[in-house]
Amino acid sequence: MKTTFIDPTVEGIRKASIAIQNDELVAIPTETVYGLAGNAASPKAIAYVFEAKERPSFDPLIVHVSTQAQTCAKLEALKLIDTKTLSYSLIQKIDALLARFWPGPLTLLLPKNPEVSDLITSGLPQIAIRMPKHPIAQALLEISGCSLVAPSANRFGRISPTTAEAVFSELKDRIAWILDSGTCSVGIESTILGFTEEGPQILRPGGTSLESLETFLQERVLVAKGPLQAPGMLKSHYAPTKPFYLLPEKMNTLTSERFYPWIQHLPASQTASVGLLLLQGDPEQLGRNFRELTRKPVIAKSLSLSGDLSEIAQNLFQSMRALDDSECELIFSEPCLNTQGLGFAIADRLQRASHA
Ligand code: TXA
Ligand code: MG
Repeated sequence: MKTTFIDPTVEGIRKASIAIQNDELVAIPTETVYGLAGNAASPKAIAYVFEAKERPSFDPLIVHVSTQAQTCAKLEALKLIDTKTLSYSLIQKIDALLARFWPGPLTLLLPKNPEVSDLITSGLPQIAIRMPKHPIAQALLEISGCSLVAPSANRFGRISPTTAEAVFSELKDRIAWILDSGTCSVGIESTILGFTEEGPQILRPGGTSLESLETFLQERVLVAKGPLQAPGMLKSHYAPTKPFYLLPEKMNTLTSERFYPWIQHLPASQTASVGLLLLQGDPEQLGRNFRELTRKPVIAKSLSLSGDLSEIAQNLFQSMRALDDSECELIFSEPCLNTQGLGFAIADRLQRASHA
């Protein structure tokens, strides 16, 4: 199958919309990462999604909805959720959350409607739903008239794509269409939030911060650990193909004594280079410092000169991918020590990408 890029024009969106209605897959931009979209009402399209991504069937899909569906009542009218088991006060709380955080990088787990295919939820009792903010994603939802399943447009376990070119390198010849709208602004996936008897709970940290949810809800938001996490949150995920090691501290404080335990991972060959992912600062200067520690050629990428968390998140996956595609043999990354706001999701993705 030949993979073709589509421009995000009215004509292009119409073409993508027809493809969706014909059960084909279209990679689409969202504000977080590119998604691999298919009609949520089509078992054929859903099956293609799992096949193209080589995704195991136990890993459920997020359903993306248009701005027409911003209340529990409307989601129920679309036969996506079932509010029977929800208390009146919880429905009010969810509606308030949707009014405040949708459209945007927040996915909610809600009781699934019996009409929703078990293929989407992997047989789980809840469905994950999100309303993307990206105008092109919204236009496609609107014009196609379909709700869309859209996992990140990468092969299973790999780094999520934040550009159309990255989608191409992941899914070339596996999907027909890529709607190209440049680089995603958030750069990291949506936050997934569920509701337990103990209160709201994050199953995956992402583009909506825990603090902003707590401030809005005026209550503590829990964070799921271990098997309670979203089923797709396997430990080794968002991973480059090359060995990826998290350094114990930032480059500006890393000494040769503290780097010592990591020396064993360095390639034996004198000429083999190592990759360095910096969260902050000048890649030239910090790359030189790292060269002194490793005595190897260093390919350094910095996510932000100033250390701005939004900029770090936006560039994270693209720079990981660039290092993975470069000639370095392995990658060392600075850790994200600030776990406030977006820092929580950044630290989570670095941890999951890393070996051990
Ligand atoms: O920002 C995002 O959420 C992006 C863009 C494209 O919208 N999508 C995305 O989808 O990250 P995906 O499939 O790569 O990650 C979805 C995560 C998986 O870890 C999956 O296990 C979890 O959501 N998930 C989906 N449905 C679920 C459900 N019914 N119950 C629990 N977890 C669910
Ligand atoms: Mg994914």
